[in-house]
Amino acid sequence: MTVAVNPYLQGNFAPVLEEVTETDLRVQGHIPDVLCGRYLRNGPNPASPQEPSTYHWFSGDGMVHGIRLRDGRAEWYRNRWVRSDAVSNVLGESARGGATEHFMDFGPNTNVIGHAGRTFALVEGGTRPYELDAELETVGRCDFDGTLEGGYTAHPKRDPLTGELYAVSYFFGWGDDVEVTVLDSSAHVRSARRVTMGGPVSVHDTAFTQRWVVLLDLPVTFSMDALAEGSGRATCSTR
Ligand SMILES: [Fe+2]
Repeated sequence: MTVAVNPYLQGNFAPVLEEVTETDLRVQGHIPDVLCGRYLRNGPNPASPQEPSTYHWFSGDGMVHGIRLRDGRAEWYRNRWVRSDAVSNVLGESARGGATEHFMDFGPNTNVIGHAGRTFALVEGGTRPYELDAELETVGRCDFDGTLEGGYTAHPKRDPLTGELYAVSYFFGWGDDVEVTVLDSSAHVRSARRVTMGGPVSVHDTAFTQRWVVLLDLPVTFSMDALAEGSGRATCSTR
């Protein structure tokens, strides 16, 4: 009998099974006094047991880890799952609620950013951001105070002159369109424009100049026909 092995469920990728809060942190060396803030990271960390033969790394529930530095001290380390409805259910907690987009709800697992004094966990592909508080507890799904119509991306770019965030978002339900948004320095969408690409693209990254948005019309696209055929590889195809 062959036991399925999934590299993203073991070793360095094995899910962390508990949340901890540590305030008595030992420092090796010296933390410069000028460093003041939080260092945060996000990544897939399934909250419930997964079947190794079918688990995909991208699908793991997001867990955010953080260290708070101030006055030469490491004040705390903590890790928290992003409380999607599913994660709240696994943990026996009530759902946090908040904005939804279509039928999709997911604990963002790709990026975590600070903007306008707020903290957001992000993922691409069409689902909402989640807002966290300063100590990484989940506030809820976020549509930037009602200004974001659909989903968002994991990879917004900050304008160094204005502090605004520029983003290109995609969602298989938008067909060949992507959405270019500008999130102002108050974390409200001030501009959203749909742009039709050469196909239903999966856009991981993008770039911006002082005048232009660089749209990457990539060769990897969603194929709903292939998905309907049931192929395990069919959510993307090349063209
Ligand atoms: Fe990405």
